[in-house]
Amino acid sequence: MGKQLNLKEMVGIKAASYVTDGMTVGLGTGSTAYYMIEELGRRVKEENLKIVGVPTSYASKKQAEALNIPVKTIDQVNYVDLTIDGADEISHDFHGIKGGGAALLFEKVVATYSKEIIWIVDESKMVDKLGRFPLPVEVIPYGQDQLFRLFQEKNYHPSFRMESEEVLKQTDSGNSIIDLQLDCIDDPIALANELDSLVGVVEHGLFLSMVDRVIIGKESGPEVLE
Ligand code: 5RP
Repeated sequence: MGKQLNLKEMVGIKAASYVTDGMTVGLGTGSTAYYMIEELGRRVKEENLKIVGVPTSYASKKQAEALNIPVKTIDQVNYVDLTIDGADEISHDFHGIKGGGAALLFEKVVATYSKEIIWIVDESKMVDKLGRFPLPVEVIPYGQDQLFRLFQEKNYHPSFRMESEEVLKQTDSGNSIIDLQLDCIDDPIALANELDSLVGVVEHGLFLSMVDRVIIGKESGPEVLE
């Protein structure tokens, strides 16, 4: 891919410019967040930037450590100053779907204790209504088939996230993911409440009104919405 065409890298670098000395930074997960972590690693090395990273997945932790970014867990900090993460879909009212990379649980925990949140995406992820992207629901293995059947009955078109043809995807917490193909979510708040109320559901990928700033990668340059 030509460097000028890598929109993920563009927004990753732009978002990293919001990080300043002394910050505790939530490190998102995914192919876009990857570039933000790389840029923070570069700044730690070349600019002597002093930060602490709070990774939202094992993958991001490994990447940060390889770049000599000091890391802590969410329990080892009082709060996070700024979290920078990717997203799978964002509606214009700043609701989003996350979890395409299966890290939704830790991402939501870190987001909950963050003073500020930036999402970095390319233009294709901005939508009028959420739902075309399958909504991830993280469930504990015990009773997961019951939840699957319930989602079938509700016409939510569930499918288990797979690691391979025969093996279920396991999250960093050892749970499973059921993706719901809803196509159009008319009332994200009602759906979030419904999913929150189901026994066995650990978390879902609806991140509602959590983000403060969205940086969109465009051919013409990054666009910042706040
Ligand atoms: C991981 C996520 C990611 O942030 C989301 O899937 C976007 O990933 P990418 O930048 O690779 O498109 O929520 O759980």
